[in-house]
Amino acid sequence: MSKGDLLEFHRRAILAENEIDQLKKEIDVLKTLLKPTTSSSKELTELQQENAKLKHRVAILTRYVESVRAKEAKLGDKTEQMISIYDELETVFLAAISKTYPDLVDPPVVITTCQDAKFGDYQCNSAMGLSKLLAGQGKKTSPRDVANAILSNVSPTPLIEKLEIAGPGYINIFLKRDFGLDALKTLLKAGRVPPPRVDKQRVIVDFSSPNIAKEMHVGHLRSTIIGESIARLLEYLGHDVLRLNHVGDWGTQFGMLIAHLQEKFPDYLTVSPPISDLQGFYKESKIRFDTDEEFKKRAYACVVQLQAFEPDITKAWNMICDVSRREFDKLYERLDVKIIERGESFYQKMMEVIVKDLEAKGLLEEDEGRKIMWGEKPNTGIPFTIVKSDGGFTYDTSDMATLKHRLEEEKGDWLIYVTDAGQAVHFQLLQSCGKRAGILKHQRFSHVPFGVVLGEDKKKFKTRSGDTVKLLDLLDEGLKRALDKLREKGRDKELSPEELKAAQEAVAYGCIKYADLSHNRNLEYVFSFDKMLEDKGNTAVYLLYQLTRIRSIARIANVTPEQMKKAIETTPVTLDHEKEWKLAKVLLKFPDVLLKITKDLYLHTLCEFCYEISSAFSEFYDKCWCLEKNSVGEIVKVNMGRILLAEATAIVLEQCFYILGLKTVARM
Ligand code: ARG
Repeated sequence: MSKGDLLEFHRRAILAENEIDQLKKEIDVLKTLLKPTTSSSKELTELQQENAKLKHRVAILTRYVESVRAKEAKLGDKTEQMISIYDELETVFLAAISKTYPDLVDPPVVITTCQDAKFGDYQCNSAMGLSKLLAGQGKKTSPRDVANAILSNVSPTPLIEKLEIAGPGYINIFLKRDFGLDALKTLLKAGRVPPPRVDKQRVIVDFSSPNIAKEMHVGHLRSTIIGESIARLLEYLGHDVLRLNHVGDWGTQFGMLIAHLQEKFPDYLTVSPPISDLQGFYKESKIRFDTDEEFKKRAYACVVQLQAFEPDITKAWNMICDVSRREFDKLYERLDVKIIERGESFYQKMMEVIVKDLEAKGLLEEDEGRKIMWGEKPNTGIPFTIVKSDGGFTYDTSDMATLKHRLEEEKGDWLIYVTDAGQAVHFQLLQSCGKRAGILKHQRFSHVPFGVVLGEDKKKFKTRSGDTVKLLDLLDEGLKRALDKLREKGRDKELSPEELKAAQEAVAYGCIKYADLSHNRNLEYVFSFDKMLEDKGNTAVYLLYQLTRIRSIARIANVTPEQMKKAIETTPVTLDHEKEWKLAKVLLKFPDVLLKITKDLYLHTLCEFCYEISSAFSEFYDKCWCLEKNSVGEIVKVNMGRILLAEATAIVLEQCFYILGLKTVARM
């Protein structure tokens, strides 16, 4: 954006702000007029309509002012960043449209990518909408005329090579190669991809969240994989992320577990009980609970003591949680997942407070002994149960407490909860009740649901004998299968034992994560090692191979790290060949891919992007030589500009892999 454009924006923002003030005053006046004393209902309706119109205008103007302020901030920000092409084009065209039609506030700016590269790289499709808008104001102009008028007002920018009008009024945009050269240079110099600029937010990601003493199942595995990736993405973009493991560590089942512990290991306070199979322990205690009245009474007494934080009982509870925790941690370590445990028990006291709050606000209703709360209207027909008829709290109560704590104490700007789609209604209600209670205000709230995992028989994922699959066993099987695959390709003969082990782990864990993330998370997906371990198509194995292949180019060309460094400073990346430029343009989309994912939290777009990079690289490598060899296979010439393009490709791919949780290896 040129300086002139910016000044113009600034002026318009101030005008808009003045108008907002004026409109707010008018709204206040209207409010006093709207008192119930207003005589005729016709008059009332008119005033209400007028009020609604003014509010709408205020909203539009406010949005406009915010967007201008954001652009100013971005221009003032001198930290290294990779530019979002969408954002930049939007700014350029907003400026051009504003110059052409000074009376339009917040005009529609529609930028898309061109389907066919022949016609351009991006396009601006605003002319059609603008022509309609103008017609509505009694000014008739054809979309093509509008497009022409806008085009003449686009300021020169480093981004755009040329503009062309096509069809009914599309403005086709061709990117400038110099822009690509600069962007790739920046990332080569940094040795990493500098993230695009975003407004820093405090984001709380609740994921994984298994239940103590119960099986951690494939659903929790999905939550763990998706949640970890979301956290990595947001951290990379510069947000302040708090990763929370909301484990189910509270509730009546602990009464029977503790009673059983006391019975089986009477000296548990001094000698740590050797429970390794907590699920088995859970089953035993459940049988006791269901068959023995005496035991049942003791179990209930334990619940009361636990809730009163009685020390010995708390110790027993801690021991039980510890056994689970050790199991969970093994999984997190193997999958390289970082998370802070903050389970339901953490919110125990806060639940009492929130119940009082809701009661005081008159939001709770009696319903057959329970206390329920409805969400905002129109409600879903299901209420939250805040207090059970026996006085106990529920999952609903604890989530109302998480909401309040994460917004008010943790100061979250954005709350994310990653769970199976079966809990969608629960989270809709949470959002709605949170709003109604005035706890959730302007902050962003996202439930990130995902579909169930199926076995290859398309039925619920189970072992051959019909048991639920133990996650650690699943990882072990992955390791075994990955090693088989590497051996099948003869890699065990090429790689050192350490390299083989690194490759085995990268492939095993990588393929499990990638298979999960590369599917649209809303859909159920079939867990199949055979499919995941294929080395063709959009799979982790294929992409990991592709990266090692790209990385090996410089090695084969005998380019030392020092030479590479020097070349980055002195040699331009070559973008003359059509395939080189095509590959570069794919790489330049990276910031926009990430920004889109922060909007919808669909990580499969990032997997598709990896595949797109990889395909564009193959096309480039096929057509453009990086080294020239003579008839006896000696290297006679190295095309350093192309080696740099390969290096840039590797850097972007690695950044994607990091976000997806894939470990890379130098050789495999
Ligand atoms: N423990 C729950 C389950 O296994 C998931 C908890 C998700 N987080 C939350 N704040 N409700 O389904």
